[in-house]
Amino acid sequence: MANNWTDVSAFDDVPEEDVLGVETAGKDVALYNVEGQVYATDNICTHGHARLCDGFLEGFEIECPLHQGKFDIRDGRPTCQPVTEAVRSYPVKIENGRVFVDLG
Ligand code: FES
Repeated sequence: MANNWTDVSAFDDVPEEDVLGVETAGKDVALYNVEGQVYATDNICTHGHARLCDGFLEGFEIECPLHQGKFDIRDGRPTCQPVTEAVRSYPVKIENGRVFVDLG
């Protein structure tokens, strides 16, 4: 599939060791900044309709605010019940202080 790099945010707007929700190109995307590296996943939990940006980030794990399921933000895989289905993760690049996500 062709790359679809989309400018989603200023790098400085993604809080350190925290998560930011952005809506772009009809998608709701969560951006995470861990040790200066940005990761991106879909923002909606695969278990129910909760936004992961309202959850709690600890290390590379995001905890859903609704039932406390967890995902690894690096690849979207579920790491804690009740979530069993991975959340989609996206490639990220930083250019000129902007965050680009490959929405595919
Ligand atoms: Fe996320 Fe239930 S909606 S764990």
